[in-house]
Amino acid sequence: MRGKGKEDEGHTNKRKFEGKIIVITGASAGIGRQAALDFINKGAGPIILIARSESKLLELKKTIQVVTKSKDAEIVAYTCDISKKEDVLRMGTQMLERFGYIDLLINNAGFGEFGKVENQSIEQIEAVMRTNYFGMVYCTKVFLHSMLSRHSGHIINVASLAASFGVAGMAGYCASKYAMLGFSESLYHELYGTGVRITVVSPIGVKTNFFNNQSFENHQPNYTGFMLEASTVSKAILAAANSSRLEIIVPFYIRAGVWFKHTLPYAINPVAGALFRRQLNKAPK
Ligand SMILES: NC(=O)c1ccc[n+]([C@@H]2O[C@H](COP(=O)([O-])OP(=O)(O)OC[C@H]3O[C@@H](n4cnc5c(N)ncnc54)[C@H](OP(=O)(O)O)[C@@H]3O)[C@@H](O)[C@H]2O)c1
Repeated sequence: MRGKGKEDEGHTNKRKFEGKIIVITGASAGIGRQAALDFINKGAGPIILIARSESKLLELKKTIQVVTKSKDAEIVAYTCDISKKEDVLRMGTQMLERFGYIDLLINNAGFGEFGKVENQSIEQIEAVMRTNYFGMVYCTKVFLHSMLSRHSGHIINVASLAASFGVAGMAGYCASKYAMLGFSESLYHELYGTGVRITVVSPIGVKTNFFNNQSFENHQPNYTGFMLEASTVSKAILAAANSSRLEIIVPFYIRAGVWFKHTLPYAINPVAGALFRRQLNKAPK
């Protein structure tokens, strides 16, 4: 059986992920792109990069080939819309035929739509759920059996702090991340003793293209000082790959906020609510 958690932990050499076969969704930008580069720098490969933008994936593939200065790692740029069940099934089947198995599945692809529920269409809310939640479910299902049969593998789901706080203006997005966390927690318990693991990485705001979505036009976060770099979240994803924990919140001290929210909801919810409403009620420029 492949490396046990304890043996792997603290193992900091540069080739930590040598030969690991990794699938990353949402690899064309932001956190996913950074994670692909970081895994490659730690010796990973073959690596399968998933997103809808073929040109961005090919650019990343080229960058990786230049950075690694070798063809050591096989890099697959696979165009796939993860919200489409048939496309994910095709991608998964082809990758399993080609490589036999995968070691790590990073479910990272996702997007948000800002707006009050009363102003959003059902279709907008469904679209967020279809990518952020069902896309993760499709990818998990397509690789899980193979992981279970090998008693080896790790699924890492990139959720958000929005999996623990309902943010005004982000109902559909929060629902998709709460759903991701709930699904992952259930699966975490089901996987006990199987050799397969699942870990959720939940960051606060990150400086990526996420907020370039038109719906954020007048609601760009004004707390730039508190926003994380994609590299910080990527580091947490790499750490998650050697962790037996269910959820890693980034930065770690924000876990205290989640604990307070669950323990003293009557004290925390009004404060959090007022904070989020301020953003929602910002007048258009
Ligand atoms: N930025 C933040 O503040 C923040 C905070 C907490 C959690 N997160 C989560 O982190 C993850 C990554 O977001 P990011 O911040 O890196 O945003 P980003 O820069 O906008 O990247 C999102 C990635 O997801 C891909 N994607 C979106 N829809 C897809 C689909 N249907 N099929 C396949 N790929 C799709 C995009 O590629 P294509 O457009 O080429 O398909 C892109 O590669 C998301 O799940 C997000 O919810 C972000």
